[in-house]
Amino acid sequence: MLRQQDVGHRIVVRRIVGIREGRPLFSDALGELVELSETHLTLATAKGPLRVPVAQVHRAKRVPPTRRPTAAAVVALERAADEAWPAPTRDRLGDWLLRSADGWTGRANSALPIGDPDRPLPAAVDAVERWYAERGQPAMINTPLPLAAPVGTELDARGWTARPPTLVQTAPLPLPSDGRPARRPGEGEDLEVTDTPDAAEAPPGAVVELRTAPGEQWLAIAAGRKGGLPDAARHVLTAVDQVRFAHVYVDGTLVAVGRGTVTGQGRWLGLSLIEVVPVARRQGLARQVIHELTAWGVSAGATHAFLQVEQHNTAAVTLYQRLGFTTHHTYLTRLAPP
Ligand SMILES: CC(C)(COP(=O)(O)OP(=O)(O)OC[C@H]1O[C@@H](n2cnc3c(N)ncnc32)[C@H](O)[C@@H]1OP(=O)(O)O)[C@@H](O)C(=O)NCCC(=O)NCCS
Repeated sequence: MLRQQDVGHRIVVRRIVGIREGRPLFSDALGELVELSETHLTLATAKGPLRVPVAQVHRAKRVPPTRRPTAAAVVALERAADEAWPAPTRDRLGDWLLRSADGWTGRANSALPIGDPDRPLPAAVDAVERWYAERGQPAMINTPLPLAAPVGTELDARGWTARPPTLVQTAPLPLPSDGRPARRPGEGEDLEVTDTPDAAEAPPGAVVELRTAPGEQWLAIAAGRKGGLPDAARHVLTAVDQVRFAHVYVDGTLVAVGRGTVTGQGRWLGLSLIEVVPVARRQGLARQVIHELTAWGVSAGATHAFLQVEQHNTAAVTLYQRLGFTTHHTYLTRLAPP
């Protein structure tokens, strides 16, 4: 059967999906194991997340990875993602990164253990604990899997807990047009406005603005989602050379937002804070925001897009899957015991 060490690896699960004439009916599922508890396991399959009760599992085993990104590719993407979400307070522990941003978001307030910390692993984790204690913050470490699996094992032994897995997903650019007109907003302007009369699925009158700075209402939506907005949050959001903030208005009301960055030596468009107000969902607005941001990213030279999504966020995972995103790797946010 499976063990915690299998999290982050590709597995096949044969599960019992019914009984016919007294004999079990089986179904096989293939994907990356992103979570394993006593009662359930969750697979990131090509069709999205699949949660399977352990009681239904007949057999499960690791299978060789296909097209698994190299360690170097994971490191490069994690560094581009760090650049796209820059914590104002930063330090290094060998190759590891230490990041703090007034506690605003796990990513900006966690260590990133990629590369060599220049000391034995237990001493590195001690140093992380001290660094956060000096700032009066709980110690957190984001472990990309399976790259940082040895770090995870050390943290397990120390009783660190884990938040639900996050999928780091990527797609080549441009995205499939999905029947939508491709637009290439001009570069170098502070405000790029695109009316959308020809976008069949967007609500009539929706206007998308890509700005170089977020408006106050935009920030209010981000604050609602991420729990407040300390000073450090503005730094995290804006301290990137190439950044755009999508604002979508219907009848003058802001109904959808999103953020795009280009980092990683110009290769990676990062998408973050895609959000549509509840009353305006399922009208194609998120897709619209993503298409506008990807068009901008392409015009800025990006060849690939990435985003981070919690694997249990079914709406977002389905949206991204429809747009051609697949899971590059996963990570766990680990928290030191209080
Ligand atoms: C995820 C979210 C941004 C989607 O916004 P949206 O404007 O409703 O999405 P769209 O209308 O563009 O949907 C496009 C496709 O995504 C999929 N999708 C969107 N919401 C879905 C849902 N709740 N369940 C299943 N599929 C969904 C569908 O395939 C949909 O196409 P369809 O309506 O033709 O079936 C929105 O639900 C939201 O703001 N959620 C809270 C914030 C969040 O989780 N953001 C993502 C962080 S990574």
